[in-house]
Amino acid sequence: MTGTANDTTRHASEPRIVPATATDGLDIAAFTVEHYPGDALGIPAARPRLNWTYAREVPADAQILLTLTRRTPGSAPREQHTYLPVDGNVLVPWQFEPLVSREEAAATVQVVSASHQPLGAPSATLRFEAGLFDEHDHVADFVGPSWAEAESDHRHLPLVRTEIELKAVPVRARLYLTALGLVEAEINGRKVGHDALTPGWTNYDNRVEMWTYDVTDALDAGANAMGFWLGDGWYRGRLGFDGGYANYYGDRLGVFAQLEVEYADGTTDAVYSNSWDRRWKTALGPIVCSDLCEGERYDARLEMPGWSEPGFDDSDWKPVAEVFYDPARIENPSVSPVRAHERHDPVSIELIGSTDDGRGVWLVDFGQNCTQRIRLNMRGLDAGQSVTLRHVEVLEPDGTIATRTLRRGQQCDVYTSDGADAWWEPRFAMHGFRYAQVEGFAGELTADDMDCRVYHSVMTRAGDLETSDPLLDRLHANAVWSMRSNFVSIPTDCPQRDERMGWTGDICLFAPTAAYLYDVHGFLSNWLKDVRADQVKWGTVPFYVPFVPLGVWAHPQAISTWGDSAVEVPWTLYMESGDPQVLADAWELSRDWIDEVAGYLSEDGVWDRRPDYPLGQLGDWLDPTAPPEDPTQAMTEKELVATAFYARSCAQATRIAEILGHEEDARRFAALRDKVTAGFLARFTHLDGTMTSDTQCAYALAIAFGLLDGEPVRKVKAGNRLACLVRESGGKVSTGFAGTPFVLPALTMTGHNEEAYALLTSTECPSWLYQVTMGATTTWERWDSMRPDRSLNPGGMTSFNHYALGSVAEWMHAHIGGLEAIEPGWKRFRVAPVVGGGLTHASTSHLTPYGTAAVSWALADDDPAAVDLTVTVPVGATAVVDVPGHETEELAAGVHRLRLAR
Ligand code: BGC
Repeated sequence: MTGTANDTTRHASEPRIVPATATDGLDIAAFTVEHYPGDALGIPAARPRLNWTYAREVPADAQILLTLTRRTPGSAPREQHTYLPVDGNVLVPWQFEPLVSREEAAATVQVVSASHQPLGAPSATLRFEAGLFDEHDHVADFVGPSWAEAESDHRHLPLVRTEIELKAVPVRARLYLTALGLVEAEINGRKVGHDALTPGWTNYDNRVEMWTYDVTDALDAGANAMGFWLGDGWYRGRLGFDGGYANYYGDRLGVFAQLEVEYADGTTDAVYSNSWDRRWKTALGPIVCSDLCEGERYDARLEMPGWSEPGFDDSDWKPVAEVFYDPARIENPSVSPVRAHERHDPVSIELIGSTDDGRGVWLVDFGQNCTQRIRLNMRGLDAGQSVTLRHVEVLEPDGTIATRTLRRGQQCDVYTSDGADAWWEPRFAMHGFRYAQVEGFAGELTADDMDCRVYHSVMTRAGDLETSDPLLDRLHANAVWSMRSNFVSIPTDCPQRDERMGWTGDICLFAPTAAYLYDVHGFLSNWLKDVRADQVKWGTVPFYVPFVPLGVWAHPQAISTWGDSAVEVPWTLYMESGDPQVLADAWELSRDWIDEVAGYLSEDGVWDRRPDYPLGQLGDWLDPTAPPEDPTQAMTEKELVATAFYARSCAQATRIAEILGHEEDARRFAALRDKVTAGFLARFTHLDGTMTSDTQCAYALAIAFGLLDGEPVRKVKAGNRLACLVRESGGKVSTGFAGTPFVLPALTMTGHNEEAYALLTSTECPSWLYQVTMGATTTWERWDSMRPDRSLNPGGMTSFNHYALGSVAEWMHAHIGGLEAIEPGWKRFRVAPVVGGGLTHASTSHLTPYGTAAVSWALADDDPAAVDLTVTVPVGATAVVDVPGHETEELAAGVHRLRLAR
């Protein structure tokens, strides 16, 4: 869109909003910047794009008055405004001169008439602020312990402190904070911000995120103090499985802290962490050791009351030492932080034993498996007495806590008391659990003694689904919980055992579902930067990102599905947001993946060469017929799976190249797509529609990826064969990770909705609802992570919280609810609910860039042959109603009620 930019810089005292004298309610529903959920501090963009949505239709000749008040510290505010057309309200290019480092912006938008008279109230004020753009803005150094630390991965953790003198109470103060390791900051004894696991996991060799905090209210005139807890985290903690890898990025912890203040008289001041002014000191703190997976040990006897307050005697603290890190690698985040969310109250608390000294051992059930942490009231303990908290996902059949499946990541916290009552929560460990065993609690443990909080990255909820079947609703809720549990800084496979890696295949399969559930743009595009960095470093898209060489996976090689995340994830984000920038940012990643794999194809276009490491392709990983100890032993040929995914990636990459204007690449990729598709058909399909692998996975991929679109008869036959296999299986699922997201879509695409519903609603093992009937509150890694006799799958890899199999929620949104984007950014979307499965009603909603789209349907009370449908179309988008027996109809903005024949 082109703005009629007519910037006028006015003095701040002038009114910046035209008073809404005669509003007829043409209000702005939401106003956001870039892909942030709301106000944003420390953003990386100098020209951030703005988005707003309308509460109702606006006249085409109306305009938008965009008003901006901007200010850099130490200078007077400036006000600017411009008028814009009403119809380009998503990712509107920046209309003013670029922001500079630290610049604050407060903006509103308001609908006005062609003659600039207000037609509605101005939006709520959106506030955003530039981060530190230039490497020379990073004046602080990373500082940490100056002593030789033990050669161990269980090191006693340090504190860092400093004191500062301020000449007056500041009117503005910012703390720019990051660390090599994890950090929590305190000012004058109070925690700064609400974030956890700061700065998050990035490939620290390339970049680290620096977070901006508004600390204006924390500072006083005169003496102030800042204190920093440091933790190992991903930087030097033991990462991953097979014994893990400690000190991968470095072995010395360091905090980077830059405090910048502004006084009422316009003067400014700053304090920078450093090792040379002798004002920054360090000492060992009460965290004896902490590992993200293993847990935290804390000894309250080592606390130093007042350590982050002014006047504390730190004469026996040591001067800090600098840890060098290239300031050019410090980034302003485009992602949101990890934070605590809602509280889980226990559903049961049971006394199950006692410690040697007679204190209780309690089993607490929080009713929900997820990533969470307990804050426990450590009351009535003598100095030196410890309370141990063990966290598990499930119980063994005999009722004891199941710790085997956690492997080394035992999720065990130990708190040792100093004799004073205190509330305590680990700082640098995170746990995936439903049950906690609390050992050594003095007295009776009650719900009031625990504050258990859910943790994950901050994301806006984008969509929901509700049906008349409580089992399906629980299945959907489980998919949401597994997503939340694993969207903690990076997209992980699982949140509990000694793994928690950014497995690329898991998110390749789950990304479209994730986008239905939450706005994941900032989160996943941030992770894609590391995928690219690791691709450059390792010469391929590694198995997991950030990549750490571990066990049999130490030497990355291209594997299908996992590597295809290089194309599928950016494409999903683009379809969801309509933002081509994500395609441009990931272009080299996507292109190089396509080019790399092109070199592994046989003459006929089939990917049957490489990888040549022990496991080979992972194929339809965790196919339920594969033995517990070898999840790659699937029924479907690995070459078939690899070629199908690659054909889809080539098709997507062709479209990406076209959108970005890379014409030569687009031609090359289109030719590759045609060759690979032809090779796939020739090698794996027969004229009668059957396939060389007569499996649900094979047919599902061929149909869902459009590989049979040029062979309509074969496609019909393949659909029939797939439906037949589903009927023969008696409703049991027979796909693993790769096939599962595509079985129901393929059945729907070929007109077999009855079989799709039969598969979805089966409760036989293996099936989605089998897990639900077994009491699952998250989606499991294996179809039978828990077996019908309640024993746990003996495989060494048995998690109860993996999101891959929850990818079925994509079909549930698109076909039970009936809401699906057909143009990037939901400009046009399809409304096509599939009435079936014994359901009497369903409803779904989705927060599109234009506002909320919704569908709700119910069997009509007064006519057994009719269905009542309500469709909500946000302003700026168009719905296409596409249901059998009803002529395709386009709906404009508004709420529409339709009666359809069943
Ligand atoms: C992870 C998976 C992952 C797989 C690949 C597992 O250990 O948990 O989700 O994709 O390994 O081999």
